[in-house]
Amino acid sequence: MITLTNLSKIFRTELIETHALREVNLQVNEGEFAALTGPSGSGKSTLLNILGTLENFDSGDYLLDGKSVKGLSDAALSKLRNEKIGFIFQSFNLIKDFSIFDNIELPLRYRGLKASDRKQRIDQALELVGLHARRDYLPGQLSGGQQQRVAIARAIAGEPRILLADEPTGNLDSLMARQVMELLEQINQRGCTILMVTHDPEQARRAGRHIQIVDGQLHDSTLYQPLSQPLHQPLAAVQGA
Ligand SMILES: Nc1ncnc2c1ncn2[C@@H]1O[C@H](COP(=O)(O)OP(=O)(O)O)[C@@H](O)[C@H]1O
Ligand SMILES: [Mg+2]
Repeated sequence: MITLTNLSKIFRTELIETHALREVNLQVNEGEFAALTGPSGSGKSTLLNILGTLENFDSGDYLLDGKSVKGLSDAALSKLRNEKIGFIFQSFNLIKDFSIFDNIELPLRYRGLKASDRKQRIDQALELVGLHARRDYLPGQLSGGQQQRVAIARAIAGEPRILLADEPTGNLDSLMARQVMELLEQINQRGCTILMVTHDPEQARRAGRHIQIVDGQLHDSTLYQPLSQPLHQPLAAVQGA
């Protein structure tokens, strides 16, 4: 579903060049739950933002469902993003003057869904995250864990095929973090592919796949895991398994 080949990203300012990603190769198959870990500044958010087409890259290629995103217009990119990708951020990114319902509804409005479809999706998403009774609350009236569950509801109401989560439990205490992790596992079991940045080794273990990034370079532990694969098997075949 996602294929990155020799993808590099350099941030240039007047004073310095930062090689945020160096020749990254990655394949993510439909239905995977992958955890991405690495030191601060190693390129995790940059990778996630590029996968979410929020940021461009300098060289290499990114194929999403077999099609390169290179050269797509902004309009085409935002359509693709809207239809296929959901985002969850560490800081929830909810609009504080909007009710829970309205927060979840906003991206659905952008997509031009009609009111009855919007309501149905919002109801379902709120049921799943267990916050239906709080639909008329404002974000500030909820705990951090509940706010993150609203953000998850907002993401899944769009019925994305890929969920990109950048340290979704980074601002939560351990109990709430566990609830959010369990919710993500449930969403993954429904078929949504998930890529999650985390600092928590326990979460990385629970995900089906653990990708590490250091200094803009990927170290994908799944390459070492498939014991049933003969050692001489080419990388592409192993990754596609
Ligand atoms: N918009 C930007 N302009 C310049 N440098 C940036 C920008 N975004 C990120 N960087 C740099 O790229 C590197 C990777 O950043 P990031 O992907 O945010 O790391 P992580 O999420 O792993 O902490 C860092 O050195 C960071 O300073
Ligand atoms: Mg980051």
